[in-house]
Amino acid sequence: MSRFLITGGAGYVGSHTVLALRERGEEVVVLDDLRQGHREAVPPGVELVVADLSDRKQVKEVFASHKFDGVLHFAALSLVGESMREPMRYMAENLSNTLWLAEAAVKAGCMRFVLSSTAALFGFPKYIPIDENAEIAPVSAYGESKLMAETGLKWAERVHGLRTASLRYFNAAGADPQGRLGEDHNPETHLIPLAINAALGLGPELTVFGTDYDTPDGTCIRDYVHVTDLADAHLRVLDVLNERPSVRYNVGNGNGYSVREVIETVQRVSGRKVPYREGARRPGDPAVLVASNQRLREETGWQPRHESLEDIIRTAWAWRAAHPQGFSSPAAKSEAA
Ligand SMILES: NC(=O)c1ccc[n+]([C@@H]2O[C@H](COP(=O)([O-])OP(=O)(O)OC[C@H]3O[C@@H](n4cnc5c(N)ncnc54)[C@H](O)[C@@H]3O)[C@@H](O)[C@H]2O)c1
Repeated sequence: MSRFLITGGAGYVGSHTVLALRERGEEVVVLDDLRQGHREAVPPGVELVVADLSDRKQVKEVFASHKFDGVLHFAALSLVGESMREPMRYMAENLSNTLWLAEAAVKAGCMRFVLSSTAALFGFPKYIPIDENAEIAPVSAYGESKLMAETGLKWAERVHGLRTASLRYFNAAGADPQGRLGEDHNPETHLIPLAINAALGLGPELTVFGTDYDTPDGTCIRDYVHVTDLADAHLRVLDVLNERPSVRYNVGNGNGYSVREVIETVQRVSGRKVPYREGARRPGDPAVLVASNQRLREETGWQPRHESLEDIIRTAWAWRAAHPQGFSSPAAKSEAA
């Protein structure tokens, strides 16, 4: 059994990864200040340290009071739109929190570090599917902040021998197939939960940003990777870091689905209408973003188990329909007890 520190483990991707690690029999400590995360998303028996990562004293204390075999670093500012209003805050916070966390890990002799990076690194890609050799050219301050974090970690690798993995996620989606966890952001900015909320009458009508893209139905195409497949990638990458000192993987489904396909699938799965209107394109949105997951498959043996859009949306729908108020729903509170 190993012990891992999970920053942002009360959030969406982090909590699903905590569950996967627990199921493998690992010990886990979550550090999260709950600005976006939920106490109810941390499984019973898992220690939750409620702290802001920028509080270096608290971070040091966590390392002083536990011996960790690795860090999975999910906690970050991650809203693209907000990053274009507050670029300095995004870059300062995402970089400095990553660097001080890596330094604390190195000082404590914890030498495996996995960073939640992003497809936003690639900006407007020159070819599809996007592999790890594609040009890095972010077009948002959020993407830039993750690039800066990756660059900072490179020096921790070179100078201190920290073994680091940067996982460039495409769009995390879906929910735990057993219905124990789901996606609950405020504000919600992701298409699938927005469409589901609109179908349930829990949110405003959906806006489709742009219907004149050079795609078969005119709407943007994105790669939705199931959150439990994403969690599984983390477990495999932790093992790979025992063999290799430094890895970078694009983590995506490998298939692209358009906004209209998402709306149609939510309607089919839920049996409800998704109210929506067609709006203008958003600046900075490429027509198509789809990952090549070949390197991840070949080097880690990873294989997505929930590739179809229907499967992804079915799990997301099941959780939200059972938890209309998200983690503050009575069902989530009693499950967490
Ligand atoms: N969800 C996606 O589709 C997606 C795609 C690409 C990359 N990512 C990256 O993956 C990571 C996780 O994404 P998510 O969707 O689970 O986000 P999330 O907001 O659900 O989870 C992040 C968690 O980190 C916590 N947190 C944030 N800042 C903190 C701080 N300074 N100190 C302590 N805790 C803090 C929040 O409370 C939250 O629980 C992020 O780094 C994000 O940039 C996510």
